[in-house]
Amino acid sequence: MTTERVQVAILGAGPAGLLLSHLLHLAGVRSVVVEARDQEYVQARVRAGVVEHGAAEILREAGVGDGLDREGLPHDGIELRFDGEGHRIPMADLTGRHITVYGQQKVVRDLTERRLADGGDVRFACGPAQVHDVDGPEPSVTYEVGGVGQRIVADFVVGCDGAHGAGRVALGAAPVEKEYPFAWLGILAHAAPRITELVYANHERGFALYSMRSNEVSRLYLQVPASDRLEDWPDDRIWEELAVRFSLGGEPWEPTRGEIFERSLAPLHSYVGEPMQRGRLFLAGDAAHIVPPTGAKGMNLAIRDVSLLAPALAAQLRDGEESGLRTYSERALRDVWRAEYFSWWMTTMLHRFEGDAFDRRVQTAQLRSVVTSQAHSTALAEAYVG
Ligand code: FAD
Ligand code: DHB
Repeated sequence: MTTERVQVAILGAGPAGLLLSHLLHLAGVRSVVVEARDQEYVQARVRAGVVEHGAAEILREAGVGDGLDREGLPHDGIELRFDGEGHRIPMADLTGRHITVYGQQKVVRDLTERRLADGGDVRFACGPAQVHDVDGPEPSVTYEVGGVGQRIVADFVVGCDGAHGAGRVALGAAPVEKEYPFAWLGILAHAAPRITELVYANHERGFALYSMRSNEVSRLYLQVPASDRLEDWPDDRIWEELAVRFSLGGEPWEPTRGEIFERSLAPLHSYVGEPMQRGRLFLAGDAAHIVPPTGAKGMNLAIRDVSLLAPALAAQLRDGEESGLRTYSERALRDVWRAEYFSWWMTTMLHRFEGDAFDRRVQTAQLRSVVTSQAHSTALAEAYVG
């Protein structure tokens, strides 16, 4: 077993871990990022698509917003479609802010390139790392490469290793969580989007979302039962179901079709592990909390968490100033719970739940209120643009 020392050991090279490492570097703090999977896998993983206003500002201020400004698609509104009608929520008019459609893959690519260009220590393909001794003065991370054990002793360990990582286990918090009885089937297709703004559709048969990655690539989602498998959804069935759920004026409304080159299933749930700290272990991003994707908040929260954590770690390590770290969890959780609320609200308002006619009528009444009351649509827009 080899042992080394570093100021901050970070688990996970997703958006949270990479940005934290970059922000610490800017503040003169040395970190090592230990990632279970290889670089190719991490960069190919397709997930989020919406970067909110605040998260874009954080990336720009950190000098890693060029790709977002060059290739991202600024969106000033979204459409809510229900009862066969489309209603635009003019987010930019209501809030003065907009969102940017920019794939998480690109955020991860930009951050990885920047870390490596700056000589950052990002170690891919380490297998699942483990966390030890977080309650003592010398917490550590261990992993194995080629049968040889590696040990990193750190002043602080940060778990940015997502929902199934070691950080969450080491925290040992009793979670507050909620399961939803459905999943999202997501596809990427080589097809010019038929829309210029995202469409969130509530239909009798379930939720559908029309998004994009570029002017040539469409990103589409369907609510499906949690028990469905990808084999249950051949291409034609996906396109036909999308056309029905996006219906306008009683007529099917079909997205532009194209070759489907990526597909995945993601179950929906909400989860918060509180507090986001134990001793010298801190958590950020999906390791600490999960939101259902309907509000497009997950990656944005991960970015916000580390924008709070990085200066707090730097202040402690450089100046012995500990108030930032002491209050990190409390400050982060305020935004987390606001996002949990918004994501739960969007999910319950837009998805089809089994059987209850009363709930279904209330859903439609809520949607009507959102699209007819400026106060209600402004509340949605403010939460959405962040
Ligand atoms: P992750 O991206 O999960 O990164 C964690 C990393 O840790 C991974 O690379 C993993 O391999 C690694 N790891 C795991 N265990 C270990 C270990 N033991 N040791 C070392 N490494 C480990 N969010 C939005 O903001 N906007 C959206 O539009 C949006 N849409 C979404 C759509 C879908 C279908 C899904 C599934 C998610 C969506 N999200 C969205 C959520 C977003 O993708 C996540 O919130 C985001 O990936 C969180 O980043 P993270 O860095 O915390 O975790
Ligand atoms: C995308 C994902 C979301 O969860 C969402 O609410 C909007 C867009 C996307 O992948 O483009």
